[in-house]
Amino acid sequence: MKDIDLDKLVKAIEKGKKVTFFNGAGISTSAGIPDFRSPDTGLYSNLAKLNLPYAEAVFDIDYFKEDPKPFYTLATELMPGQFPPTKFHYLIKLFQDKNKLNRVYTQNIDTLERLAGVEDENIVEAHGSFASNHCIECKEEMSSNTFKDLMEKGIPNCESCKGYVKPDIVFFGEGLPKKFFSSWDDDCDNVEIAIIAGTSLTVYPFASLPSEVDKKCIRVLANKEKVGDLGSRKDDILALGGCDEFAEKIARSLGWEKELDKLYDEGQNKYTTKKESEQEKIEDIKFELKKVDIKESKFKNEDKDEVDIDVSNLIEKLKI
Ligand code: OAD
Repeated sequence: MKDIDLDKLVKAIEKGKKVTFFNGAGISTSAGIPDFRSPDTGLYSNLAKLNLPYAEAVFDIDYFKEDPKPFYTLATELMPGQFPPTKFHYLIKLFQDKNKLNRVYTQNIDTLERLAGVEDENIVEAHGSFASNHCIECKEEMSSNTFKDLMEKGIPNCESCKGYVKPDIVFFGEGLPKKFFSSWDDDCDNVEIAIIAGTSLTVYPFASLPSEVDKKCIRVLANKEKVGDLGSRKDDILALGGCDEFAEKIARSLGWEKELDKLYDEGQNKYTTKKESEQEKIEDIKFELKKVDIKESKFKNEDKDEVDIDVSNLIEKLKI
């Protein structure tokens, strides 16, 4: 990435042109969330344990109606709250703070843009997110706490009609949110700078957005490899490499490096402090449990991870 010339991009930003982001799973891999299609590390090449007829079935609405278990197994692993935002996410927040952000179109369901502080009005979650849940039959909403509780015990069924409840993630076979279409109607002709990051651009209609922007738009691809039609226009910039590396490079060029580091460090500290305080609570509860005479051998004999999960459940239940 060292040799990539970002001058044209930096000048356009300094002149007041706003940036629209088009994000995919590659912006979150450094947070510890696998992407979908990278060979070996991508989710789709690691789904053997779920016994699916084909990898993408895990997000297919017809398959889900037949057998929802594989999705719930995966959802437990992907549930937001376990992963902190990356430098790239905080770069987007910096663009917002400096009034240089037009909009963020994201395919990601991990809500890390929100966690980094990007405001709802600036985000279009094209493939939905884990933020809300509905019954697939009667459409009744279920709170995230109830959903998590039920998912830990097995399959979350609707309290009214017993249908399966699923997070409002867009599955293959389902329509995209209205906000996706209305925002794109407003933005399509007004994208001045497009940063396309961490996506293979294989899932439509999202994949076609970068090719629909005006010919005068500066398009930047921040991705490990060349994708879509990026590189076919004379003003395209191919920043091939890691997304965080790109974030650092552009922040340095704009003189925002310290601010980016500060935002990132604060985010990481928050996350570490949260984990540490959770661990402290777990220790307190273990202590309390011993006092109420729950046999210590239960803890000694079980695998440590299982004990932690047990106790975390207890914390949830006690709402500590
Ligand atoms: P993919 O897994 O298809 O593509 C991720 C892209 O990011 C690949 O080109 C990787 O090489 C690249 N990449 C990975 N880590 C990176 C890093 N640290 N820095 C730079 N590039 C990196 O993910 P998406 O394009 O987001 O749909 O997938 C699109 C949709 O397919 C998802 O939203 C999901 C999936 O089926 C639903 O869940 C509905």
